[in-house]
Amino acid sequence: VDHLLGIKYLKAEDIELIFETADHFKEVINRPIKKVPSLRDITIANLFFENSTRTKLSFELAEKRLSADVINFSASQSSVKKGETLVDTVNNILSMKVDMVVMRHPNPGAGVFLSRHIDASIINAGDGAHEHPTQALLDSYSIRERLGEVGGKKVVIVGDILHSRVALSNIFALKLLGAQVKVCGPKTLLPKYINSLGVEVETDLRKALEWCDVANMLRVQNERMDISYFPSTREYTQQFGVNKTLLDALDKEIVIMHPGPINRGVEITSDVADSKQAIILNQVENGVAIRMAVIYLLASKIKK
Ligand code: CP
Repeated sequence: VDHLLGIKYLKAEDIELIFETADHFKEVINRPIKKVPSLRDITIANLFFENSTRTKLSFELAEKRLSADVINFSASQSSVKKGETLVDTVNNILSMKVDMVVMRHPNPGAGVFLSRHIDASIINAGDGAHEHPTQALLDSYSIRERLGEVGGKKVVIVGDILHSRVALSNIFALKLLGAQVKVCGPKTLLPKYINSLGVEVETDLRKALEWCDVANMLRVQNERMDISYFPSTREYTQQFGVNKTLLDALDKEIVIMHPGPINRGVEITSDVADSKQAIILNQVENGVAIRMAVIYLLASKIKK
């Protein structure tokens, strides 16, 4: 069975195929009739064991735009609360003739674990601080859309790298596509293995912004924060928050990204988040086409 468990399992040509397929679906969803009948024979379960707005709704919309049947599962309202295990939960859902599973889970590796116990395609919609592959795909797709290509571009990922599945998946995807990648954040919020990922560390945000074409501002993940790691919010914002004064001092206009949800006034000020150089809502828009592409390509393997 084929899955999308992480960017680390993909090759550059896999990403290019996903992007070309997403180009087609982006054109489809801008038509008056935004649907295609491609997946009328496929049933997909969206399993969310952790909160989500963008990922959950855009997967559901992507599935509906492809005419798949969709069921939604939220762990907080389920028999997980009565002690049912992950494998039992998913196998019970699959017995209702479900073909594919989209899963967000707080535990790193949950998708890989599940793939060893079930007989269905799994798409990882974020597993703890590990990977968020469709986010990285939509992020690189949005850079390609704004700047023409990803290869050769300089991208800095700023902030709470330690707790970020978005950072890890983005690093893998950007490097596969030939971008230069730096990370910038407080030393306490950088993982120990950061140098093994082939990215440079820059602890001065001003220098990082001067260097880059694109700055991806990560959310400070207060819910995953051990208080001893964290500079105070005020110190964080002073050293690693992006604001208009910093951007106006540059001799070029860089592209600003954020995966959402935003802590306005912490990692990014509202005047930057809502400015024309920010592509934050384009990222969300592109998430639907990217997820349609991923689902369509995986489903075509189920059908064979
Ligand atoms: N970017 C992202 O994953 O947002 P949600 O947590 O709202 O899905």
